[in-house]
Amino acid sequence: MNEYEKISASFKRCDESGAFSDTFYEIFISKSDDVSLFFKDTDFGKQKKLLRATVKILVTKNPNEPKTKKILNDISRTHNRNGYNIAPKYYKLWLDSLCETLARHDPNFTDELEQTWRRLMQYSIDIIIAGYNT
Ligand code: HEM
Repeated sequence: MNEYEKISASFKRCDESGAFSDTFYEIFISKSDDVSLFFKDTDFGKQKKLLRATVKILVTKNPNEPKTKKILNDISRTHNRNGYNIAPKYYKLWLDSLCETLARHDPNFTDELEQTWRRLMQYSIDIIIAGYNT
């Protein structure tokens, strides 16, 4: 199994709980007042579906493949300083929240798997952050 296949399988186990996005936003929003303020007017029904659909794609494809790259460029544009204005420092909280969600719902989660998740998701985060000032 390559590393993308490993995190895809982990996502699938986590998603089987049916609570991936609920748990993610519960944890993410509790991380800091700033984070909860960003989402103060959010329609979470919609947002939770969008996050799940996006993560589902990010775990299956290298960030440089055209489909993934387009998704990441779109997210980069909406999150940049002229959009939601999400400063780069907040992405660590996002990744921590993702890993805590996985630890809660993937019964086979391990420290080694967490390192793989962090390394692969960081490629996507780096692409999003690179557009912050554009
Ligand atoms: C890899 C990290 C992230 C991914 C994959 C991601 C993904 C998404 C997606 C798919 C959407 C909906 C489509 C859009 O509006 O572009 C969205 C919206 C949003 N995201 Fe992110 N996001 C990430 C990180 C963050 C971080 C770190 C924050 C803030 C701390 C954040 C705050 C928001 C906000 C405020 C919205 C709009 C919510 C609304 O419509 O009210 N995101 N994100």
